[in-house]
Amino acid sequence: MRKLFIAGNWKMNKGIKETEDFFNELFNLVADYGKVDIAIAPPFTSIPKAVEVCRTKNILIGAQNMYFEDSGAFTGEISPKFLKELNVDFVILGHSERRHIFNESNELISKKLKKALEEGLTPILCVGETLKEREDEKTEKVLKEQVDSAFNDISPDDAKKVIIAYEPVWAIGTGKTATPEIAKDAHFFIRKRIKELYNSIVADEIRILYGGSVKPGNAKSLLSVDEIDGALIGGASLKPQSFAEIIKIGMEV
Ligand code: 13P
Repeated sequence: MRKLFIAGNWKMNKGIKETEDFFNELFNLVADYGKVDIAIAPPFTSIPKAVEVCRTKNILIGAQNMYFEDSGAFTGEISPKFLKELNVDFVILGHSERRHIFNESNELISKKLKKALEEGLTPILCVGETLKEREDEKTEKVLKEQVDSAFNDISPDDAKKVIIAYEPVWAIGTGKTATPEIAKDAHFFIRKRIKELYNSIVADEIRILYGGSVKPGNAKSLLSVDEIDGALIGGASLKPQSFAEIIKIGMEV
């Protein structure tokens, strides 16, 4: 049984004070997360505050990006070593905004994934097709390229530690959610590819989250799908109320 993983990606939102306020309100709304893993990725500068307030609360705190070197002349980049100093648990890699706004390539994301695993940070690897790629019936080709490149040279034991997030680019921040059927097909395809690259043990263990306009109103239909092991939530993770509602739905499915 794969444990459900409900994660918020705050993107470039919430400074230190807002971070503290968010968690204080969230703790009033949900006291126990039961069988569900809860995670938040704040901006880098709010991570220390998030780690501090969540210390006794069993909430995983992650970063939204990192570089693949320890240190050096890489202006503006963040080393995984620095993240570890902050007691960060996980790191989101290859988010579509990193791929499309900041031109991150599959090759770069692959280096980051390898480095995160070396450093003991759980990678959340984001994959997903654009609207044009879906319309051109290239979804599976794109997903295969993204998965194959990221897992190149990763051992089966390490592969199991990766969390994959299927985030169709056309569903991110648009209010358009993939139907449970669309998400299920994509998740099935990704898991099948992991099985081909490794074996059924790795494929059965690896968690695949869905991301793209997940809201309290659609969370139940998505999280009830067997192939969907959780959600990576943008907009709806910014409000304690809506994030708490999704957590409660996750505890019930
Ligand atoms: P939205 O939930 O705002 O569509 O964002 C999804 C996302 O990009 C999470 O990483």
